[in-house]
Amino acid sequence: MTVVHEAKKDSSYKGTSSKAIVHHYDFLGDFYRLTLGPELVYSYGMWEAGDTLESAQLRKLDYHAEAARAVGAKRVLDVGCGWGSLMRRLVETHHVDHVVGLTMSPGQAAWVRDQQWPGCEIRVENWFDHEPADLYDAIIAIEAIEHFAGNTMWRARRIARYRAFFQRCHSWLKPAGRLSIQANTWNDRGWLASLMLPPQQLAQPGETPGARERLGPKALYGGIKNIREGLHASRKVFPECFLPTPAELREASRGLFRVEEERNDRDDGVATVQSWLERSEANRARGAELIGESAVSDIIREQRTALRFLREGRFTSVRMVFEKA
Ligand SMILES: C[S@@+](CC[C@H](N)C(=O)[O-])C[C@H]1O[C@@H](n2cnc3c(N)ncnc32)[C@H](O)[C@@H]1O
Repeated sequence: MTVVHEAKKDSSYKGTSSKAIVHHYDFLGDFYRLTLGPELVYSYGMWEAGDTLESAQLRKLDYHAEAARAVGAKRVLDVGCGWGSLMRRLVETHHVDHVVGLTMSPGQAAWVRDQQWPGCEIRVENWFDHEPADLYDAIIAIEAIEHFAGNTMWRARRIARYRAFFQRCHSWLKPAGRLSIQANTWNDRGWLASLMLPPQQLAQPGETPGARERLGPKALYGGIKNIREGLHASRKVFPECFLPTPAELREASRGLFRVEEERNDRDDGVATVQSWLERSEANRARGAELIGESAVSDIIREQRTALRFLREGRFTSVRMVFEKA
């Protein structure tokens, strides 16, 4: 049976507010749902040759189920469960008894509740306020951490917020339990360098940067244009979100978790955004009827920017598997 609970109103949480979540997932969400494919997975897939968006998404869900050792588990937590694709996959394919999914979007929760998937408990609840009924065998958080720290926080405050998340997960997991995370992350040199530097000077984990050069007027102009596009995306499409760097996540988890695996899957980001963008363009007219032409244009502009930023290595997709220390 699925149950919906209301979020606490007195939270001192400083990440993306409920209002901003509702704008993105419940208002713009009507358009995203036209473009995400039948499972409504709203995160990068895991692509192999010959894949469709759907098969790449299922591979990604299976990867996290196995990485977190959730297969056959009794209790699994999905932090930031979206429209429930992972919850469903865990109970139907991976024989999990009970999955708790947290979302801040009432629209997503209502949609999941209406599916009546057995073994799935959906909660409109911030992880910050979550008090589990029992320990979890595994926790999975796919592209939710981008919401956990505000864009006006200094690095140390952001790390403290990510650490609060790792502390909660540590206390909710059984001994040696695993947490599997997928996140969009800036280049490890930080958000400003990620936006300002020419692509040949940027390298994601496992990649080698080109030689450093002095920044000429062309590079400076390019950097300013990137900042303008980043601000547009942040104002119109992803309000109150901020990407971590992989180094920040490592630092925030230190002493609580061992990093068992870290993958830089930038190509998966490129392939997924390319596919979303094609679908967005194909659904432009229908989308305009649902959310208005200007909101659709904002989304398409953001997706074009995201595709370019991924290709240029300004941000990437990381998958990190943590084991409770
Ligand atoms: C980009 S979606 C990813 C959804 C899903 N994991 C997927 O792959 O399809 C991010 C999700 O995180 C949720 N979220 C954001 N901040 C949250 C918070 N503080 N607590 C719980 N969920 C949160 C949103 O409501 C949304 O469901």
